[in-house]
Amino acid sequence: MSARELVPAHAGPAVIRAVRRPHYARTVSAAPPDPSLQGDTGVVVRPARTSDVRAIRGLVAPLAERRVLLDKEAVAYYESVTDFVVAELDGDVVGCGALHVLWEDLGEIRTLAVAETALGRGVGSAVLQRLVDRAHALGLSRLFCLTFETAFFTRHGFEPIDGQAVDPEIYAELLRSYDEGVAEFLDLERVKPNTLGNTRMLRLL
Ligand SMILES: CC(C)(COP(=O)(O)OP(=O)(O)OC[C@H]1O[C@@H](n2cnc3c(N)ncnc32)[C@H](O)[C@@H]1OP(=O)(O)O)[C@@H](O)C(=O)NCCC(=O)NCCS
Repeated sequence: MSARELVPAHAGPAVIRAVRRPHYARTVSAAPPDPSLQGDTGVVVRPARTSDVRAIRGLVAPLAERRVLLDKEAVAYYESVTDFVVAELDGDVVGCGALHVLWEDLGEIRTLAVAETALGRGVGSAVLQRLVDRAHALGLSRLFCLTFETAFFTRHGFEPIDGQAVDPEIYAELLRSYDEGVAEFLDLERVKPNTLGNTRMLRLL
């Protein structure tokens, strides 16, 4: 059963604490080293450029088709290109990921995707670590993600949550956003078909 299934439909935007807290601090402090710095993986992570948008869309397309990731219009990628980093292996873009700021203390890891041919080589971990570094630099203290990849994110210090990660006042402010990802973060009824089966996860920085 996923964390979201544990939330009563009437629960509303009340803040509900992350579960399995006893192991949390240890998990976070044991975050793995950045594979992009290990030298043996050959993974290079860098900020995305506008010319990477085609490659990013190419990585996302098969995952969006399987409803693993949210499908977006091309314009949405150009608008958010500064949120993205990409990972290169031998000069090819084989991974991407974005950090989207939601509020003063809170960001979302989104559109983390690795080409099928490059899975299990540390690319996803390297991209995630770079986004965590960005989050630290921005002064964020919490990272949210909505994912099927619970094992991967758990190994990177995230924990499943039920309910909302913001208090009702901030929830009301976030309702003013036009961003579809924010609608998913808020768990709005109209986007529930897109997020079915995903787990809501949070990492404290
Ligand atoms: C989740 C996802 C990004 C992981 O990408 P990945 O590149 O395979 O991730 P990694 O290689 O860093 O880690 C996966 C496993 O590979 C192995 N691995 C990691 N580094 C490795 C290396 N240098 N060499 C060999 N194997 C390695 C490990 O077993 C690792 O497990 P761990 O999490 O215990 O460390 C990828 O599966 C994906 O694109 N999923 C679909 C999209 C999605 O759901 N995104 C999340 C929501 S936004």
